[in-house]
Amino acid sequence: RQIPDDTPPETLEAAREQALRCTRCDLCHAATQTVWGEGDPAAALMIVGEAPGDHEDLQGRPFVGPAGQLLRQTMDQAGLDPAQAWMTNAVKHFKFTPRGKRRIHQNPAAGEIRHCKWWLDIERRMIAPRLTVALGATAAFSLTGNRSPLTPRRGKLETTLDGGPVLITWHPSLILRLDPAPAAAAREQFAADLSEAARLMA
Ligand code: URA
Repeated sequence: RQIPDDTPPETLEAAREQALRCTRCDLCHAATQTVWGEGDPAAALMIVGEAPGDHEDLQGRPFVGPAGQLLRQTMDQAGLDPAQAWMTNAVKHFKFTPRGKRRIHQNPAAGEIRHCKWWLDIERRMIAPRLTVALGATAAFSLTGNRSPLTPRRGKLETTLDGGPVLITWHPSLILRLDPAPAAAAREQFAADLSEAARLMA
């Protein structure tokens, strides 16, 4: 592994270009490409997911697979325009284990989340959102340093390590994995949380 260049980039575009060549952790080797954040660089709202999935890895764009569709749909219903937000992930490379022709998603490890926080911090300094929404435990941990379970934290505001408000909610891919009854309940909570984010942004 190369020793990373710790000179912080001066623009968001320079950061993106550096991140495309990132070798801070080993996830870069098997992944297709870095999936950088996307949206309005002047956004007041930042949405932080876990890490790119299979679709995102292949397309090089965040939230384009099934979980991303659910997120974008629910944002729309809440009156939040994804193009006016900054949509990114705590970890910017896909982590998976190959199984035959399929690539099975794996949760990033704490060390991978910490290495990639370098990039999330740069995005946050440059975008300086008024509100952040953390999707799931990985984003919540990266942003707040708190690894405790999500259930009692969901739907509430916490403070990020850099001092801003963050609303904690479910990861949409969790909703897609649940059985129908709990999925319906989690979907309602997810929609209520994004509506609360819209209310806080108004
Ligand atoms: N899940 C995430 O956490 N991020 C994406 O970009 C896509 C799916």
